[in-house]
Amino acid sequence: SLSTLGTTSIEDVKATNPNGRNWFQLYVMKDRDISYGLVERAAAAGFDTLFFTVDAPVAGNRMRDTRHGFSIPPQLTAKTILDAIPRPWWWVDFLTTPPLEFASLSSTGGTVGELLDSAMDPTINYEDLKVIREMWPGKISVKGVQTLEDAVTLGELGVDSVVLSNHGGRQLDRAPVPFELLPQVACEVGDDMEVIIDTGIMNGADIVAAIALGADFTLIGRAYLYGLMAGGREGVDRTIEILRSQIVRTMKLLQVNTLDELTPEHVTQLKRFGREDAVRTSR
Ligand SMILES: Cc1cc2nc3c(=O)[nH]c(=O)nc-3n(C[C@H](O)[C@H](O)[C@H](O)COP(=O)(O)O)c2cc1C
Repeated sequence: SLSTLGTTSIEDVKATNPNGRNWFQLYVMKDRDISYGLVERAAAAGFDTLFFTVDAPVAGNRMRDTRHGFSIPPQLTAKTILDAIPRPWWWVDFLTTPPLEFASLSSTGGTVGELLDSAMDPTINYEDLKVIREMWPGKISVKGVQTLEDAVTLGELGVDSVVLSNHGGRQLDRAPVPFELLPQVACEVGDDMEVIIDTGIMNGADIVAAIALGADFTLIGRAYLYGLMAGGREGVDRTIEILRSQIVRTMKLLQVNTLDELTPEHVTQLKRFGREDAVRTSR
C-alpha cells in the first residue's frame, strides 16, 4: 500500500507493478483539493483499494524523530556528520541516490510530525467518507478503527473493510490494543465485511493468532521496514519468508492444516482478555 506520505508517486508504483493489486493510503488534508486530487490519480491508475486512515488527526508525540533530528528532506547537522563519519556506505548512499522527498506533497523541511500537524484535517468525519465513496470506484477500507461502535457504523455505511489498528502505537499511547478488540468486532461485523488488523505483528504466530480470532488477514508495518533497512529488496523478501515459515511451523504445532481450521480456542490469551464469549463462528 502506497502512503500519501510515500516517496514514490502513484504513477511510478503503477508502472513498476502494472498487473498487481496496488493500494493507496489516504490522509485527508485541510486542503481537500490535494487529497481528492490523489484519490483521482490513484483511481485513474487503476489502484484496487483505498485505505482511508482516520487515526492521525494530528501527529503523535514522536520524540525519537525530534531527538534524532529526522526531517524530510534530511538535513546535515553537526551531529549527523559526526554520526556518519565512521559509516562510509552511508555517505555513498547519501551522495549517489536521489534526495528523500515526499512524492505527493511538498516537503516542509521539518519532521513528519510537523507536516502531519500542519497539513492534516483533524475534523474529518463520516461526511468525508461519503464524498470519498462517490469518487472512488474500488474497495474502501477505513484504517485506524478502535471501537466496536465505529466498526458497526462503518459496516452500515458500506465500507468494504476496517483495519483495527492503533498505528503501531505511534499515535495515542495507551490507545486500545487491536488484538483485544478483534474478537468482538469479528463476531459483530465479520460476516458483512473484511476485518483486517495491524499493530505489533512481528512473528508469524501473531498472524495465526489474529486469524484464529476472526481476522481475514493482517498488515505489517515495522516488520517489513526492518527487513528493508537491513537488506533492501532482498531484506523484505526475507522478512516475508521468515513470517511464512513461522506461520507454517505454528500451524503444524497446533495440528492445523488450513487457515479455516483455526478457531479462537487456539488462542490461549483469550481467557486473559475475558473475551471468551465474543467469538466469530464462521469465516
Ligand atoms: C515509519 C512508519 C511510517 C508510517 N506511515 C504511515 C502512513 O503514512 N500512513 C498510515 O496510514 N500509516 C502509517 N504508519 C502506520 C502503519 O501503516 C501501521 O499501521 C503500523 O506500523 C502497524 O504496526 P506495526 O508497525 O506494529 O506492524 C507508519 C508506520 C511506520 C512505522
